[in-house]
Amino acid sequence: MSSESIQSTLQETRSFAPPASFVSQANISSVEQYQQMWQRGKDDPAGFWGDLAAELHWFRKWDTVLEGEMPNTKWFTGGKINASFNCLDRHLTTWRKNKAAIIWEGEPGDTRVLTYQDLHREVCKFANVLKRLGVRTGDRVTLYLPLIPELTIAMLACARIGATHSIIFGGFSADAVADRNNDAEAKVIVTADGGWRRGKEVLLKQAVDESLKKSPTVQKVVVVRRTGMQVHMMPDRDYWWNDLMSDVSADCDAVELDSEHPLFILYTSGSTGKPKGVVHTTGGYLLGAMMTSKWVFDLKEDDTYWCTADIGWITGHSYVAYGPLCNGSTVVMYEGAPNWPDEGRFWDIIEKYRVSVFYTAPTAIRAFIKWGDHWPAKYDLSSLRLLGSVGEPINPEAWMWYHRMIGAERCPIVDTWWQTETGAIMLSPLPGVTPTKPGSCTQPLPGVVCDIVDKEGNSLGPNEGGLLVLRQPWPSMLRTLYGDHERFVQTYFSTVPGCYFAGDGARKDEDGYVWIMGRVDDVLNVAGHRLSTMEVESALVAHEAVAEAAVVGFPHDIKGEGICCFVTLKSGDGSEALERDLIQHVRKQIGALATPDKIRFTPALPKTRSGKIMRRLLRDIAAGRESVGDTTTLEDLSVMAKLREQEE
Ligand code: PRX
Repeated sequence: MSSESIQSTLQETRSFAPPASFVSQANISSVEQYQQMWQRGKDDPAGFWGDLAAELHWFRKWDTVLEGEMPNTKWFTGGKINASFNCLDRHLTTWRKNKAAIIWEGEPGDTRVLTYQDLHREVCKFANVLKRLGVRTGDRVTLYLPLIPELTIAMLACARIGATHSIIFGGFSADAVADRNNDAEAKVIVTADGGWRRGKEVLLKQAVDESLKKSPTVQKVVVVRRTGMQVHMMPDRDYWWNDLMSDVSADCDAVELDSEHPLFILYTSGSTGKPKGVVHTTGGYLLGAMMTSKWVFDLKEDDTYWCTADIGWITGHSYVAYGPLCNGSTVVMYEGAPNWPDEGRFWDIIEKYRVSVFYTAPTAIRAFIKWGDHWPAKYDLSSLRLLGSVGEPINPEAWMWYHRMIGAERCPIVDTWWQTETGAIMLSPLPGVTPTKPGSCTQPLPGVVCDIVDKEGNSLGPNEGGLLVLRQPWPSMLRTLYGDHERFVQTYFSTVPGCYFAGDGARKDEDGYVWIMGRVDDVLNVAGHRLSTMEVESALVAHEAVAEAAVVGFPHDIKGEGICCFVTLKSGDGSEALERDLIQHVRKQIGALATPDKIRFTPALPKTRSGKIMRRLLRDIAAGRESVGDTTTLEDLSVMAKLREQEE
């Protein structure tokens, strides 16, 4: 990491105190309360988390809250628990039995409401279906579905019988599905014929068929009929969801699982070509998801809560499914695109269901700004009381627009920093406590001890850019990378001695507020989603025409970061046709989310004498910036001159 890469130029002095009307009703409502909780979490983590864990249902109470030290920690050992039971059964003995758990809207406008009792019944039935298909406690099941209630049903059904789910976002390609199936050795995959996205069908079953040519462990396929499109069904392998559900019992006891039983694997990009299978376990993860939902989203019984993330990402796991359901909340789910049939769709949904808490991503906010104020202005957004942001740094102007146009200057904004690996929100304002500053995720939540350090682990002073680390274990942290514990230790615990580090640069200002400055490794953040430059490079060099490729990010108005690929061909010059072909090729290998924004053909890449590609220079070119800093290690200066010429 070079020091210049984490210079911060952001100067933001605006500050917004929580409105008094919000404070008076908030779950955590005073600075003293926060400080006292935070201090206890730091001084006595076992006591702090142990007390909170009593809010979950345990078949058997734990013997020990926390065992071991980072990287190898275990939480609530000896405890027996089930995530599905906590999200469903325990609400059925209360008035919540007939409360809406999920209010779902499909992109074409169809709707469904499932009460807690409905959801429980469907989950029990599908758990029985899984058992009938041969799934046992400890097996892995892949879920590759659109954002429809069946996804929540399937994940909770897996959790009910102790099968570990691996959810793959519907935007990933057949090849990506095959890789993940193989890595997890999944036994069953649950999919749909297709899903709706901007009026078009996403061909999920077709991708599964292709993926299964390369993933031999998968024995059975369950297919939800969503779009009604024609799909191929292979006898004795493929089954329709509805057929299987038609004759199973709705009784299925939740299995009493060890607290450390693996609840799910979620694949995410690291700085190599191979995605990492982040493993989360049951008791600790659930506790993190539940408590942070309550603290950060200030959830109340009568809230209508909408997190726009797809369940295929960690945000959806923790804040569409486990967190809010564990709290007995009403969750809005919307299948499709924000601009379908027009750019008012999200605001229409908020007005229609009287959404009170709304959690979305900066990339969406930037798109809304571009589409124009007249869209939100047409709708009644007065039901909103709290807004959230996640996935990437929110630029202060987008924050201000969100505050003004959507929150009517009345709703606190919680800018939540966390990661697939952390399982739950780590840094965020508490909406009834923390004065916010546009662009800062402010302070650590209770139970989180963070620091900004140099590579030796020394704490840095105010406004010095460094590495954001977590110094103390927390219950919802990942336990390992599936099948590769060594990579887990190496990736997260070797950069800074004794600390968890997962790749972000940050600084703390004079008030102790944290400002995330972005990744310091070769990971891109495209529209709030992580992609490794190496993954895209591997995809490119797998194309027959490509000799070498270097991929860098560049600032992009909507997506935050765009993907720029510098490509050297085996022979000949590039053409527009080849450019299109390469773009398609990357989409096929990884998925639409990795679609390159720019392909630039170059006879050579800028390298050091030892052969290392000088990405810093490529980043400057991609961003249209002058290169500052040292180029003396460059082997062939003319390469840069040629790239610059192309620019003109
Ligand atoms: O760089 C940080 C950025 O997203 C990364 C984590 O990506 P992922 O595991 O896909 O999870 C995204 C949703 C939790 C982080 O390393 N990031 C996430 N939230 C923020 C953020 N950067 C700045 N501010 C945030 N609020």
